[in-house]
Amino acid sequence: MGSEACGLPVEIENLTFAYPGQPEALRGLDWRVPAGARVGLLGASGAGKSTLLLHLNGILRQKSGKIRIGETLVEERTLATIRRDVGLVFQNPDDQLFHLSVAEDIAFGPRNLGWSESQVQQTIQETATALRLEGLLDKHPQQLSSGEKKRAALATVLAMRPRVVALDEPFANLDPALIEQLIGLIHGLSATVILISQSILPALACCSTLAILDQGRIAAEGPAYEIARDRALLGRCGLDFHYYRDVWRRLETAGG
Ligand SMILES: Nc1ncnc2c1ncn2[C@@H]1O[C@H](COP(=O)(O)OP(=O)(O)OP(=O)(O)O)[C@@H](O)[C@H]1O
Ligand SMILES: [Mg+2]
Repeated sequence: MGSEACGLPVEIENLTFAYPGQPEALRGLDWRVPAGARVGLLGASGAGKSTLLLHLNGILRQKSGKIRIGETLVEERTLATIRRDVGLVFQNPDDQLFHLSVAEDIAFGPRNLGWSESQVQQTIQETATALRLEGLLDKHPQQLSSGEKKRAALATVLAMRPRVVALDEPFANLDPALIEQLIGLIHGLSATVILISQSILPALACCSTLAILDQGRIAAEGPAYEIARDRALLGRCGLDFHYYRDVWRRLETAGG
């Protein structure tokens, strides 16, 4: 399922943010994601990944610093444009699903954008097919399994064809076949993609670049396989996943 328009660049300059009464979660963060890039954002639990994402379409407002999506600064007067261009898939799908059926949730964004009813219906069908939601369109979102909810939340965002798609833990609660399918779908998006995932292998399969958020800043960024091989860096940031190698080795030698 491609997006009609291609991706927009994301530029973040000196971004600082603190929740009320808390220490700073983001501390002078600088980051640039080129148009059309697919970048994985890794970081330990509590590092500030979701907090950063919520700044991209102005849900959270920075204490200082600037965020630019394409040519547009994220600020009060540009929020309508920004929210059309930037689609956020929240970590918790319950924050994204409000209607009485999955179909109505998918239709909500396109209707708000003023699409014709036939375009809206076509988009519901296309998005449902892409995310294997065909049999669930009439269901109440609260009656879905966790993995189904994740896919429904993703559908509500992709239906609007945003030019920047930011996904917060999209692989959570998906089975291996659905993870493989989602990796393919992410590859097919012609948008800029920012992917937050603690599932490092699927992130590696999706992204050409990985960035690591640590202590409120981007601590490292580079070609995905270089970052994923740097065990010392991953270990310092609480992200070393190389112990899985032992599992793979045992799997390869088991019974043989
Ligand atoms: N609504 C909130 N009010 C106060 N503090 C918050 C709030 N949301 C997050 N925090 C704090 O801000 C910091 C960053 O949280 P954030 O949710 O961005 O982390 P994360 O990297 O997304 O973690 P995870 O991988 O567990 O989802 C944490 O210390 C967290 O406790
Ligand atoms: Mg998070």
